[in-house]
Amino acid sequence: MIRKEEAYQDIEFPKGFLWGAATSAHQVEGNNTNNQWWAWEQEGGHINDGSISGRACDHYNLYEKDFDLIKQLGHNTHRFSIEWSRIEPKEGKWSKKEIDHYRQVIQALNDRDITPMVTLHHFTDPIWLAEKGGWLNPKVVELFERYTRKVVESLGDLIPFYNTINEPVWVAYASYGLGVHPPCHNDMNEFYTAGKHFLMAHGKCYRAIHETVKDMGFKIKPQVGIVKQMMYYDPVDPNVKEDVEEAERMDELTNRWFLEGIHTGIIRKPFGKGEELEYLKDSWDIIGVNYYTRSQISPRLNDPKVLELMLSRRGESTDMYEVYPEGFYKQLMSVKKYGKPVYVTENGIATKDDKQRCRYILIHLREVHKAIRDGLDLRGFMYWSLMDNFEWSLGYSMRFGLIEIDYETLERKPRPSAYLYRDIIKSNKITAQQFEKYL
Ligand code: FCB
Repeated sequence: MIRKEEAYQDIEFPKGFLWGAATSAHQVEGNNTNNQWWAWEQEGGHINDGSISGRACDHYNLYEKDFDLIKQLGHNTHRFSIEWSRIEPKEGKWSKKEIDHYRQVIQALNDRDITPMVTLHHFTDPIWLAEKGGWLNPKVVELFERYTRKVVESLGDLIPFYNTINEPVWVAYASYGLGVHPPCHNDMNEFYTAGKHFLMAHGKCYRAIHETVKDMGFKIKPQVGIVKQMMYYDPVDPNVKEDVEEAERMDELTNRWFLEGIHTGIIRKPFGKGEELEYLKDSWDIIGVNYYTRSQISPRLNDPKVLELMLSRRGESTDMYEVYPEGFYKQLMSVKKYGKPVYVTENGIATKDDKQRCRYILIHLREVHKAIRDGLDLRGFMYWSLMDNFEWSLGYSMRFGLIEIDYETLERKPRPSAYLYRDIIKSNKITAQQFEKYL
């Protein structure tokens, strides 16, 4: 995994690099009672560890305290999401109180010199939207655009970075194709429909942000992009054509068609019919990449030998994924051709062993550094996650945080990895000694 001769050298990051961590509203705020996840959690039996999001980390009330901690930990940026179901609790009705809340949140970051990166959609939909069919309803595109305009009108003078939608293809698949997120449908055609609507909504949202900023006469020039999860599809046997082709098919289905859609404006089959939308074409200023792991691919998995080969190739485990940093470099480099600045919007590990987290951070940052060395215009890294939180259908048992949360007392306790990360940020580099200590 790590070539010895490369292992222990200082590596330095570009000046002005953005360093931070990410969260999402439903996972940390608490009491997001107005979205489809909350409703689904109340049905019981859906969340693996039996938990519900509940008051989560109570970040909704404790955000100032959390931002003080971020500051102490040296972060200069913070990625978080605005909760649509708070801003628009009933269709077409806006909550001034919640808009003011997010204004205070963003202001609190600005006051601490921490650059805010705002996600407009991170997995959750208002209940009223879910009742209308969610992302299957073609109207969602204009409804999302309207919500975007409202956010930008109200808060856009303070926001330098927007992520339109977090992991659109995964959320479409998880909700409508695979059935592990609400509304838990198992229908590939629904996946294609929702995926297409997410792509269109992204394009509309991109234009709406820039138009609104201009109309309002805001001085700020925001950078807007998608956040794309970039799973690496690795053929189990790279010498076998079927494995290679199947990995390519998966890459097209979950990665390429969406990125190419934003780039060319064309909605490829099977999500669209190859139609070209002017507003979609080149609808990004930046690219957000989320990377966690690879998936080993072969259509021959009923052959025990293939299965055996797959298992023998498996690397170190975490509580959720295999550790596979090589795929990170590959997926970062795969977006180089679009010529846009890239931000790592999520990369992190679920583990109860914080030493493992330290290692994970170091070996993944090394891939980031390699990509920069090889010419990628990569400008920032956001660890997932700032603090332990509600990991969707896996509940609270997953521990992703740089900061440990005691869910009884809500006490926040930075883990050693948070201090390692602080030291890296402070010097803008990783030293050979740091590699030596942890690898
Ligand atoms: C990503 C999600 C994020 C978190 C991490 C572990 O897919 O964007 O909310 O759940 O996975």
